[in-house]
Amino acid sequence: MTTHIFQVSSLLIENAVEKINNNFTSMVLATSVFTLTLGYFSKLVYKQMKSPDKDANHPPYIPSSIPFLGHAIAFGKSPIEFLENAYEKYGPVFSFTMVGSTFTYLLGSDAATLLFNSKNEDLNAEDVYSRLTTPVFGKGVAYDVPNPIFLEQKKMLKTGLNIAHFKQHVEVIEEETKEYFSRWGESGVKNLFEALSELIILTASRCLQGKEIRSMMDEKVAQLYADLDGGFSHAAWLLPGWLPIPSFRRRDRAHKEIKEIFSKVIQRRRQATEKEDDILQTLIDSSYKDGHFLSDDEIAGMLIGLLLAGQHTSSTTSAWMGFYLARDREMQERCYREQKAVCGDDLPPLDYDQLKDLNLLDRCLKESLRLRPPIMTMMRMARTPLTIAGYTIPVGHQVCVSPTVNHRLSDTWKERMDFNPDRYLQENPAAGEKFAYVPFGAGRHRCIGENFAYVQIKTIWSIMLRMFDFELVDGYFPEVNYTTMIHTPTNPMIKYTLRRP
Ligand code: HEM
Repeated sequence: MTTHIFQVSSLLIENAVEKINNNFTSMVLATSVFTLTLGYFSKLVYKQMKSPDKDANHPPYIPSSIPFLGHAIAFGKSPIEFLENAYEKYGPVFSFTMVGSTFTYLLGSDAATLLFNSKNEDLNAEDVYSRLTTPVFGKGVAYDVPNPIFLEQKKMLKTGLNIAHFKQHVEVIEEETKEYFSRWGESGVKNLFEALSELIILTASRCLQGKEIRSMMDEKVAQLYADLDGGFSHAAWLLPGWLPIPSFRRRDRAHKEIKEIFSKVIQRRRQATEKEDDILQTLIDSSYKDGHFLSDDEIAGMLIGLLLAGQHTSSTTSAWMGFYLARDREMQERCYREQKAVCGDDLPPLDYDQLKDLNLLDRCLKESLRLRPPIMTMMRMARTPLTIAGYTIPVGHQVCVSPTVNHRLSDTWKERMDFNPDRYLQENPAAGEKFAYVPFGAGRHRCIGENFAYVQIKTIWSIMLRMFDFELVDGYFPEVNYTTMIHTPTNPMIKYTLRRP
């Protein structure tokens, strides 16, 4: 039994760590640390499993014969299937163990109310997210500060994400998109996800960080972002931050170098006589309730956070939308016709008001976010015992809501697995169920980037639809890659042909 646990744990750590580096020494180190802690934790969990829970009010617990690791392997292989099966068997609230932690899922709109309506002191976000985000964004921002401070920072960011700025963004995103896809030529097969990731980092950098930072975006800076982004990994989630793993070192070095670059830009802005009108300027001019201004270091951290919060979420969503449209070619044609109907037959440059009127494209994006929400689980740490559906969730459980599961519950959604953007033309399918559709979360941690994401993705796809016709390659619609933290498309190749006017 012990050998089996060791083998499985080594395999898990190996899989997780090799995603970000293949360095042998770090693997050995990581495995040793993992194995040492394993003995301790498995004892604890085993004890917990053996003694039947005296409090019958705890959520139903899915038993596992593998101590410590629990359901990590089944969940890792196919998390949505795992959760849907558990929902069928145990109902909307249940708990299970993975890698020494107990997770309680709240599935469906009613159960999700607990996570979205609770106070941060009771269901805490910092406890679960900070170890991933603080080394990447830096100290003094987001989950490194008490939530009321982060809420003030979100408010400042939201002030910058306004319609006047979106109007400028549409123009620059159109320009970047045309420039990017002019390289694609007449026809071919390309990796859609890779292309959209490259394009989105350029457009997001220009819109969210300002033209000075965008102009510095060369291969070296792109590599720094990639190294920083390597911090969002299963390894960073599972392993202590002090381990001398190369990807952790690369992340920390990239963080320092990016902060230095941003600080210089911020200082130049502060000294400039003429003011820019963009998000960076909004942050420079913003102050906390007590009157003090953001420091250069806080602004730099917020600029990193803005870019990375939108990077994977928007690029994954846009890639999935591309595959849905490539599969449903009639829908793709309707979207192309909508461009002409709303903007004019000669397809002039886009503007913000027209973009808003592209309702079919809007519904396609909404439906892509329903079927493939990039954030499949939102998590909090239970700091106080909380009650839901007659169960009491004990302190220490990681409490989760999965948009992916809520977005496809058959109790709520008809033809739940079909890509049908027109479903939103009928009476709201999730009316009365507040949290049946939550791709951007809800409550105090709700996303502030939704409007920008819609502007960015709709502008990019408007230009792409105007330029090309898309098809699946040999009818292949990508499988979901569950090994990445955000569920990306596997082998995301797409066939394209330039449209003749
Ligand atoms: C398709 C694009 C996006 C999706 C699906 C998405 C999704 C989400 C979700 C689900 C949350 C809630 C997390 C939780 O409750 O644990 C969230 C929070 C957040 N997002 Fe987004 N996001 C997207 C784009 C963006 C963009 C472009 C930005 C920045 C411009 C952004 C900034 C944020 C911030 C600051 C939070 C707040 C986190 C908190 O208060 O704890 N997001 N997002």
